[in-house]
Amino acid sequence: MTTAPEIREPRSTTVTGRIDPSYKRSGGPKGSFEMAAWLFMRLSGIVLVVLIFGHLTVNLLVGKGVHGIDFGFVAGKWASPFWQFWDLAMLWLAMLHGTNGVRTIINDYAERDAVRFWLKMVLFAAAIVIVILGTLVIFTFDPCPQGVTTGLPDFCPAA
Ligand code: HEM
Repeated sequence: MTTAPEIREPRSTTVTGRIDPSYKRSGGPKGSFEMAAWLFMRLSGIVLVVLIFGHLTVNLLVGKGVHGIDFGFVAGKWASPFWQFWDLAMLWLAMLHGTNGVRTIINDYAERDAVRFWLKMVLFAAAIVIVILGTLVIFTFDPCPQGVTTGLPDFCPAA
């Protein structure tokens, strides 16, 4: 008679189902921050579905679709505060959602305190740079740059 293979306990829980103290990442409970972060992932996920599929539909399906995307197309979109706000919301939500998701993965998988700390520092620094750069691009974008005569949106004097 063969015996069933033994299934070992997941490394982070004890037989009682409690987290093994050696895998506890920090001292006490972290208040409501992790709860808020959990809720934020769900809520931002729902909003992102609308923002991302709206973005894909307008850019890839409507009008000339993907073949219509050029400098003039982007310039025309960002001439409207509506699309500026749409893209800003998409940038901020995707970055906060993605950064918080990767933060969770780092907390789950990086076992050494120093490794966890530095991975998160690199993650947060990268997120801050991308959010600031992206926001600047959306609001400082010049649809009618001096000296350019082709590929401009219709409303530029040089077009
Ligand atoms: C299309 C809309 C999206 C929806 C509905 C969505 C939904 C979710 C949900 C519910 C979670 C939590 C999963 C969990 O805790 O088990 C999650 C995790 C995550 N999301 Fe999104 N998300 C979307 C877009 C994005 C985008 C655009 C990015 C990247 C910028 C992203 C990156 C991540 C990452 C890195 C995680 C962590 C995965 C993990 O914990 O294993 N998601 N997403």
